[in-house]
Formats: sequence, C-alpha cells, structure tokens
Amino acid sequence: IQIQWFPGHMAKAKRQVQDALKLVDVAFELLDARIPVSSSNPMIDQILGQKPRVIILNKSDLADPSITKQWQRALDRPYIKAIAVDTIKGEGLKEVPRVASMLVAEQMAKLAAKGRRPRAIRCMVLGIPNVGKSTFINRLVGRKATKTGDTPGVTKGQQWIRTQGSLELLDTPGILWPKFEDPEVGYKLAVTGAIKEQVFDIYEVSLKLLQWLAEYNPEKLKERYRMNELNPEATKLLWDIGVKRGLLVSGGLVDESKVAQLILKEFREGLLGRYTLDLPPM
Ligand code: G4P
Repeated sequence: IQIQWFPGHMAKAKRQVQDALKLVDVAFELLDARIPVSSSNPMIDQILGQKPRVIILNKSDLADPSITKQWQRALDRPYIKAIAVDTIKGEGLKEVPRVASMLVAEQMAKLAAKGRRPRAIRCMVLGIPNVGKSTFINRLVGRKATKTGDTPGVTKGQQWIRTQGSLELLDTPGILWPKFEDPEVGYKLAVTGAIKEQVFDIYEVSLKLLQWLAEYNPEKLKERYRMNELNPEATKLLWDIGVKRGLLVSGGLVDESKVAQLILKEFREGLLGRYTLDLPPM
C-alpha cells in the first residue's frame, strides 16, 4: 500500500493519533530494525510526549543482531523500552505484554491505591506503512484482527481487542509518515521495501546498494553470486551478476532492470546477509 502524504494528511494523521492516544496507557511504536531512524516518524517524540512507549524493532530477522542490541540500549529511557521482534516467526512477542506491564506498573499501582478496580492495559500500534503493523497486531491477537486500510492516521470506529498476555489493543493502527524528504532516508526506505517500486528508480537504488554491499561485506556477495572477484564499478558488477544469473535479453545483452529487481528482492529476503543501515549514536 503506497500512501501519498500531503501536509493536510499529516496534520490529520497527527491529530487522530493524538486523540486515540488519550485512550491508551502504552504506545507500541513499530520501527524497522534495519533502519530505526529512517523508519521513524519525524514528529514522534512530539506526538507521544512521555507516554509509556514500547519500541518494537520489527523485522529483526533481517537486521544485524549485534547492532539491534546496541539500538535497544540506545533507545532506552525511563518511559521507553525497545525490544527486538520477528513478527513472522513470533520471536520476541512474548516480551511485549511483559514490558508494557512494567512500563505502567507504577501508574496502575497508583490507581489501585485509590481503590480503582484493576483493568487491562490499553495499547495501540503506530508506525509508517509496511513496517509490519497489521502482521504484528494479528500475531499478538492470535487471529486476523486488523482491517487493512491505507488511511493515514487512525481509522474511525476502531475497537478494543484482547491480546495474548491480556492487553487491550486498538484494532486499527495509527499510520504515520516517514521523513521522506531526506534522500538518504528515501534510499533506505526503498531498499528495505517500505516504499513501492513505482516511485523510485530501481536501477539507481540497486547500484547504490551493490556499491555498499561490495564495500561492507564483499565475501557474502561473492558467495551468493559465485564470483571470485567483484568488479569495483557498480554498473559492471550488476552486469556480471546478470550474466551469472542468465538475465539476458536478445543479443546477449543483460536485462539490467531485471538484475536490479533481483538484487533488491534478494536483499529484502535476507539472502545477501543481515544488515542494519542506520547506526545508533556512539
Ligand atoms: P503494515 O501493516 O505496517 O503496512 O505492514 P504489514 O503488516 O502489511 O507488513 C508489511 C510486510 O512486512 C509484509 O510482507 C509482512 O509479511 C512483512 N513483515 C512483517 N513483519 C515482519 C518480520 O518480522 N520479518 C520479516 N522478514 N517480514 C515481516 P509482504 O506481505 O510480503 O508485503 P510486501 O513486502 O509485499 O509489501
């Protein structure tokens, strides 16, 4: 789902998310573990304030595990805890209710001291398109719960659903925009599959990725495409991969756009290794 974000959309999404937040105790901010900065919303701190927040570093199966650990430490605040999750395999999901309870323990104890009856912790999911919000909600609830939609913000008429670990979750996530005006962010969103291929130049993005991979982990590239040497020029390297894979058009020329697509696909599936493209501050 590709959403076109306009200033009006952003203002509305922000307002709707802030309205929904009044109903919840804890926000689940989903980030892509490969790009925790680029997959974040530029106004998130302003939107959430000091609301207890669990940062879900999703798709951690595709990220560099040691950098994910560094990110968890870097993101930690008194009211923020980050956990690494693989929503597809279900890894890390058990931590979610545990960490949410921990973040609101004091608040709940205060309510209990006032004689209020104990109630479930209310939560909502937030994140940019394609970060895994629907998959995460369905996984937490244990059935297909989300109405899929591409409306920015929060859809009206949402309902509370019970999750494993007895949380109450809003069934529709808040959809926020990334900082796409930054070209480096745009590149990372494109590479990781957060934005659809119709809106960027697949060839250019693929070349940039190849160049980076050739520098960062040449052995893995050599192994994957069965090459003894990597041509230092990315355009030629892409050509060589095309030849290796037999992605040719008539006349023995390489179908460069097919090769570009293949490289992106294999990167996104983790076949070229596990990488984190945004590094935590030192
Ligand atoms: P959204 O609601 O935030 O828009 O995201 P959604 O759940 O639809 O997930 C987007 C894509 O990310 C899906 O792939 C989903 O399977 C994948 N995904 C979600 N969580 C994880 C995870 O922990 N690890 C991995 N590897 N993938 C995850 P898709 O259906 O193939 O969609 P698309 O990529 O073709 O758009």
